[in-house]
This record gives sequence, structure tokens and C-alpha cells, in this order.
Amino acid sequence: MKVLVTGGAGYIGSMVCIELLNEGHDVFIVDNFSNSEMGTITKIMGITGKMVQYANVDITDRTALEVIFRSYQFDSVIHLAGKKSVSESIENPLQYYYDNLIGTVMLVQLMQQYDVQSIIFSSSATVYHPASICPIQETATLKSSSPYGRTKLAIENFFRELTAAHSNFSVVLLRYFNPIGAHSSGEMGEKPLEVPNNLLPYLMDAVSGKRPILEVFGNDYDTVDGSGVRDFIHVEDLAKGHIKALYYSMQNTGCEAFNLGSGTGYSVLQLIDTFAKVNEIDVPYHIGLRREGDIPVSFADISKAQRFLGWRPNKTLEEMCIDAWRWQLKLLKEQHVEAQIVFPSKKTV
Ligand code: UFG
Repeated sequence: MKVLVTGGAGYIGSMVCIELLNEGHDVFIVDNFSNSEMGTITKIMGITGKMVQYANVDITDRTALEVIFRSYQFDSVIHLAGKKSVSESIENPLQYYYDNLIGTVMLVQLMQQYDVQSIIFSSSATVYHPASICPIQETATLKSSSPYGRTKLAIENFFRELTAAHSNFSVVLLRYFNPIGAHSSGEMGEKPLEVPNNLLPYLMDAVSGKRPILEVFGNDYDTVDGSGVRDFIHVEDLAKGHIKALYYSMQNTGCEAFNLGSGTGYSVLQLIDTFAKVNEIDVPYHIGLRREGDIPVSFADISKAQRFLGWRPNKTLEEMCIDAWRWQLKLLKEQHVEAQIVFPSKKTV
């Protein structure tokens, strides 16, 4: 199949491209490289030994996007391009609604115009009501607490209405939980160019001395050890879910949502402990206050994805931590900052 991947140079998008290429599909990447690097495209080709076409295009640039649609007949679109920081979305909702919503609407306009009937959309567990009972099922009440989350929810609603009106259209909504880890080759992983927002980038910055210490946001939740509980999923497992979703989309019309998580909740402190153990390195942290807007516990019921997509995650929390740190070490070496690793570690880095 010929698949257009928007945001294909990003952390998750690049892993999706590798899986697509490994499965023998043709990939065309559209990315504006605002939070990714062109070098990632070379890495994708290096890892897979396959050619990739790409364009430096913002999905809100309808004219540039149309040139691509006019030139290639895609079988499906995997749509990951968009902004993804909760805190930034509170400061700049206009940008979030414009990029995420308008970008998606323009993309779908072109899909209709050029007769592309299938799309896999990168949604998020943030669409679920903060008080949802875990494990969260796809049928849980939807209500997001940030502008970012509400753009995802608005796009989901848009797709539901679109498929109700156009019965040939197929939309798969993939609700990601907490993707972490890196490619098992050690060659690719998360490299946030913008200020990182998530736990793992902060943890690795603390370990490598880029920031003094990791702050654990609260240890007074009603959880196993008081820290927040999340559903961490290896980014490679997550990427494989997109391929299964693509095949599902080829066989089914309508709009269907699936959780992509590991199905297991681990606490922040358990993650820190696992990371330290498997990598034989100290993680400097202290307990801080709760972060505003955080929910205590979030983990997925993944039985729907298992049943309908035939997908199940394979990688353990240990593997996520090993792969994440292996990638971070490579990055540090590239950036020549080994000398800055100041915190006492048992292993020589
Ligand atoms: N945390 C810390 N210290 C940090 C960063 C995070 O203790 O420096 C904690 C948080 O309090 C939370 C857990 O680590 O308990 C995970 O936090 P993340 O910021 O990594 O992830 P969230 O679960 O808050 O948010 C993620 C995505 C969002 C998405 C949401 C969906 O980042 O984009 O999952 O549930 F909306």
C-alpha cells in the first residue's frame, strides 16, 4: 500500500514509518520539522534499507499538501502531525486549534477530493473523563481537561460525524496512553526540540545532569506508593498497533476507537526504580507537589484492540527503560556532553 504519514519524522511517526516499510509498504512523509529533524528520515532509511519520500510541508498549507495528493494516489493516511503539549495548549489555544483542527480538516478535504477513504488518527487517552474508572474502556465518558485534549476530542467528533455522512469512509482513532522507550536498534528515539513535557525526558535529563533533579509530582495519591500511576507502552509496540489499524481500516468502514496501552499501570516511583535497576544508574529525584491537572491513575483496557485489531504489546517496562537509556546515551555521545554526567552512577557511561 502507499501510505501518507503526517508527522512521520516525529518520535512516534518515525517508528510507524519503520514498521510500514518493514511490512513492505510505500511511505510518503509529510512533516514541518517543528519538533523533529530531517536526519530522522535518513535514519529510517538506514534502519529499514528502504527508500522514503518526504516533503517539508505543514499540513495547514493546503496548496503544498495538494501538490502531494495530486502526484500520488494514497491508499491510506496515518495522521500524527499536530501539537501535543498540554501546558503549551493552555498558553496558546489558538495555535492548538489551528494546527490540530484546521490541519486535520484540510487533510480530510484533500482526501475526499483525491478519493482516499481511509485514515488512522493519532488520538490520546486524554480524551477520557479524568474520573474514568481504570482499566479505561473505549466506551468510557469523553471529557478532556485541556485545550490540547479538547482538540483531540473535537477531531474525534468530526470523524464520527464525517463517517456518519459518508459511508465509504474509514477512520480508526488510536488513543495512546503513555508511549516511552526508543527503537531497539538504539538508533532512534525521542529527541524533543521543544521543552520536554513528559516524565521520561525529564528523568533522563536528570540522570544525565542536564537538569539537577527529577521532581516527582506528588506522593500522596491513593496508589501503591502515593505517586501517580500510568500505562507506559513501548513506542515500538505502539507503532505496530498502527499497522494493525491500517489493515483493519482496509476491511471496515465507519469510525472506531481503540486504546493503545500496555494494559498495566505502573507508578512513577516504580518506573524510576525499574529504570535505575535495569540501567544500573542512580536517578536523582525528590518529591514535589502534585502537578495541577494530573489525574492519580490512568491505565487502559486493551481487550478491544486485541480482539478487533489482533494487536497485543510485547515489551516489558524493563525493555522500555533499557531502550530509552540506550538511545539517550547515543544522543549524549552525539552531543559530546558525556562530561556533564555528574551524578554518581554505578556504571561508567
Ligand atoms: N511526572 C512527574 N515528574 C515530571 C513529569 C511527570 O512526576 O517531571 C509524573 C506526572 O505527574 C504523571 C506521570 O509522571 O503522574 C506521567 O506524566 P507525563 O507528563 O509523562 O504524562 P501524562 O500522563 O500527564 O500525559 C500523557 C501525555 C499527554 C496525554 C496524556 C493522556 O503527555 O499528551 O498522557 O493521558 F494527553
